[in-house]
Amino acid sequence: MKHRLLFLLAAVLLGTLPAHPQPTPAHAAPRPEHCTLTPQMWLCCDRALLPQADYLRRYLDLAPADCSMSADEAVVLRLDPALAAEGYRLSVSPQRIEIAGGTAGGVFCGIQALLRLLPAEVYAGQCELPVTIACTEIEDAPRYAYRGMMLDVARTWIGPDAVERYIDLLAYHNINKLHLHLTDDEGWRIEIRSHPELTEVGGFRGGDSPVRAVYGKWDEKYGGYFTQEEMRELIDYAAVRNIEIIPEIDLPGHSRNIASVHPEIRCNYPPDTLSTNGYDYRSAWCVAREENYALLEDILGEICELFPSEYIHVGGDEVDLSQWERCPDCRALMAARGMATPHELEDLFMERVTAILRAHGKRPAVWNEAVRTGEFTHESRVYGWESTAACLDATSKGYRTIVMPGEYFYFDMRQSPHEDGHDWAAIFDARKVYGFDPAAQGFTAEQLRHVEGFEGTFFSEAYVSHEPEKPDYLDYMCFPRICALAHIAWGGPSAGWDAYYRELVGRHYDRMTAMGIRFRLFPPTVTYAGGTFRVTADDGSEVWYIEEGRPGEHRYTGPLATARPHLYRFFTRRGTSRSPYVADRSYYRTIRPAVEITTSMGESSQFPYTNASTYRGLSRTRRACRQQDWVLYTFREPVTCREMYLQTGNRQLPKTILTTGYAEVSGDGVHFERAGELEQGSITLHPDRPVKAVRLVSTCDDNGTPYVTIQPPQIKPVL
Ligand code: ACM
Ligand code: ZN
Repeated sequence: MKHRLLFLLAAVLLGTLPAHPQPTPAHAAPRPEHCTLTPQMWLCCDRALLPQADYLRRYLDLAPADCSMSADEAVVLRLDPALAAEGYRLSVSPQRIEIAGGTAGGVFCGIQALLRLLPAEVYAGQCELPVTIACTEIEDAPRYAYRGMMLDVARTWIGPDAVERYIDLLAYHNINKLHLHLTDDEGWRIEIRSHPELTEVGGFRGGDSPVRAVYGKWDEKYGGYFTQEEMRELIDYAAVRNIEIIPEIDLPGHSRNIASVHPEIRCNYPPDTLSTNGYDYRSAWCVAREENYALLEDILGEICELFPSEYIHVGGDEVDLSQWERCPDCRALMAARGMATPHELEDLFMERVTAILRAHGKRPAVWNEAVRTGEFTHESRVYGWESTAACLDATSKGYRTIVMPGEYFYFDMRQSPHEDGHDWAAIFDARKVYGFDPAAQGFTAEQLRHVEGFEGTFFSEAYVSHEPEKPDYLDYMCFPRICALAHIAWGGPSAGWDAYYRELVGRHYDRMTAMGIRFRLFPPTVTYAGGTFRVTADDGSEVWYIEEGRPGEHRYTGPLATARPHLYRFFTRRGTSRSPYVADRSYYRTIRPAVEITTSMGESSQFPYTNASTYRGLSRTRRACRQQDWVLYTFREPVTCREMYLQTGNRQLPKTILTTGYAEVSGDGVHFERAGELEQGSITLHPDRPVKAVRLVSTCDDNGTPYVTIQPPQIKPVL
């Protein structure tokens, strides 16, 4: 440690600290000589490292690996028990490149360090040899043992090929844990051989499945699942790449899917008498039903068998405790055990689940709610997602904790106000992730000892409405935020954001392009003054724009004069990436004419029409939609505007919407004309005359949820 500190001090004084977007080496000593890699170079390795040698040969066309020799003119991979588990030493000398690692994982991290010294094309398998690189000696080890990313394959089905690709992308960044969120209310994605119905039925929603559609793709039966064989292949694929797959079966809440397949697992009380169009809120396992633990033994037994990870994630988040409070059996159990709150029931349930895991030689991993009372076993690993305070709480109780507060690490959050994505945790980009500093967040040295590392997440409920058959949305949301996550989780020296950003743009953008990542660029700077737009991109990317009323995308080549700035939106492009749109303030300006909103579906007392009619927020109907149900917006005075956006559901979330339907527009409030079909429950109108009223009409029976959400209209004035 002392050695490392001295080196860092020297490096800072000499101004030589690099700021790699991928993990930063703690010790890098460039030398004046050069090494030329040629196709004749041998690849020599310890026998145990043959998989890593094969991995390297996917990227560099070296002679086949040989375990029996250790030659000059060679790339040598070897284990060195003196190094830390994931530590490595990469020595590039004129005739020889040697990568030593404390474990195969350390060697793998060393291979990544070598790839970073090569031209970016190496990631596309297009690095033609010979290639000459500077000699150097790099010795490094990660600060945090856990450098994770969570992928929700449950809400949106993300299949084996896409996950395999994702594993490669994570591996390039030294991420070493892939937490797969395999079950949720909307999908069950892992085959359980003793209960094939869990995937054969629960792997699909909508259509004729008893699982309600809820998000997207209503009429279509939508879904998929991993067979155990497919998962085994992914586990092996990831293991070569120093990634452990940690499965999550989300219990006892987030279980509406399995409760649709096995309704008997739910609590024993009548469902709501309120009209919910057949929708059943109940999504938690009954704690008191003894047979539930036999089913859990079947499920978790197979999960423990399939996954080599020490920890099995068993959820524990967002349990709707009211279900237990209404259940006579759960109430009786609470009384018999002298429990004061239903939180203790969750402790009991999680302890029963832990006993199953323990019997299979595993430990539980849980979301932070599961350790609220502090009674849950300290064998567990806690994932602190709700807030930094939740992470501080878990570490102060002595739980080994993965730090991942949503406002820094939920990569399904949008990256600036007008982009796609959620905003409930925060709106943030890679810079904020990079800036997460546990010491500044109030972790004491003692608490820090319980921090195992960091994890980013991609929850996928919005992905289903963004062409999930393509990686674009997933990539855009994750990169470069994952680069920043990888950087802080590796824990190398921090040279500050500006230096990091320069390295990101100068080196890593080209690498990500070669990796095939469709990443997000930071937005360009757009100014509009004196009737002229001026746009600059500080990353050397091309500036483009779109102009309302003119088809296509156009290259920006210099200042653009216009008296109508609200018609323009600018963005940048580079390689496989693009930035979000940036527009003048006038583009976003809206007006709020007096409007009255009513519907045929009745009014929720909690979220009344007046919320939306007064532009204060959403309202909800009292029930789901049926054919010919309607939502009517009646303006006090006819409205002249250039655009009117009418939305059901919540932004980005294809849920609680009019699933299919159309809009009708009226100039007098009496005669209506059809104006277009709804898309994801919404429509944008460009009226060419004053609008007195708009009616949205449903053409579907049922929207998978017990109500429709109505939003205030968004109306853009004529400018
Ligand atoms: C979570 O976001 N409910 C873990
Ligand atoms: Zn119950």
